[in-house]
Amino acid sequence: MHVHVNAAESVDGKLSTREREQVAISGPMDFDRMDALRAESDGILVGVGTVLADDPSLTIKDGARRERRVENGCDPNPARVVADSRARTPTDAAVLDDDATTYLLVSEAANDAAIDALDTAGGTVIVAGTERVDLRAGLDRLAGLSMQRLLVEGGGELIFSLFEAGLVDRLTVFVGSVVIGGRDAPTLADGTGFTDTDAFPELSLEDVDRLDEGVVLRYDVEE
Ligand SMILES: NC(=O)c1ccc[n+]([C@@H]2O[C@H](COP(=O)([O-])OP(=O)(O)OC[C@H]3O[C@@H](n4cnc5c(N)ncnc54)[C@H](OP(=O)(O)O)[C@@H]3O)[C@@H](O)[C@H]2O)c1
Repeated sequence: MHVHVNAAESVDGKLSTREREQVAISGPMDFDRMDALRAESDGILVGVGTVLADDPSLTIKDGARRERRVENGCDPNPARVVADSRARTPTDAAVLDDDATTYLLVSEAANDAAIDALDTAGGTVIVAGTERVDLRAGLDRLAGLSMQRLLVEGGGELIFSLFEAGLVDRLTVFVGSVVIGGRDAPTLADGTGFTDTDAFPELSLEDVDRLDEGVVLRYDVEE
């Protein structure tokens, strides 16, 4: 499976404010670039923190892109995937609407009633991991369902875990010309962080583009 992380951050590396509300960091050209990335993907993964904060629908906005996918034998929208160890995704979350298939990666710590509720709401629950979602095992299960191109859209906790597990192949970051600040504001990679310099994932800068009022940086992750 090819895993591509895409996010928008301020110049100081924040994904949103300390209140964790959704903020516009990029502009219309970057939204369109992200929509094109969605259209090339089989699945879009987010952490449950992003679902709770932003309630995103994770669908393709441009109708022509959805039509092209259907002409190519795909569903109009990629599948949506939420890493949600304890099955906290609200049953009325936008990711559970009828516009696409939705997988919830949960752990054995999720209680049966919460799993049943997500199932009734139309989600497909996959158990991977004991306390927290085992991302490698979860992604292997998704690969077994013919998901080959996975786009990750945040947030910072999930992105760090994916890097820590060595699961990221490509990283694209839009850096908006704004400073958000705040020591508790989410950053591109949160989690516990790396301390050993040998553990820092090494990136190879492939492209730099000016877009809207910011810059898009595209990196491949070295093996
Ligand atoms: N600017 C952007 O591009 C962008 C994109 C997305 C989000 N955001 C912002 O980012 C914030 C949300 O980010 P976040 O870091 O709080 O949340 P997140 O990364 O979306 O979700 C984190 C949650 O995912 C669950 N999870 C399950 N398995 C995990 C694993 N193996 N590793 C890590 N997490 C796992 C954990 O909750 P459980 O243990 O309960 O499952 C964890 O708390 C919001 O403010 C949102 O607006 C910005």
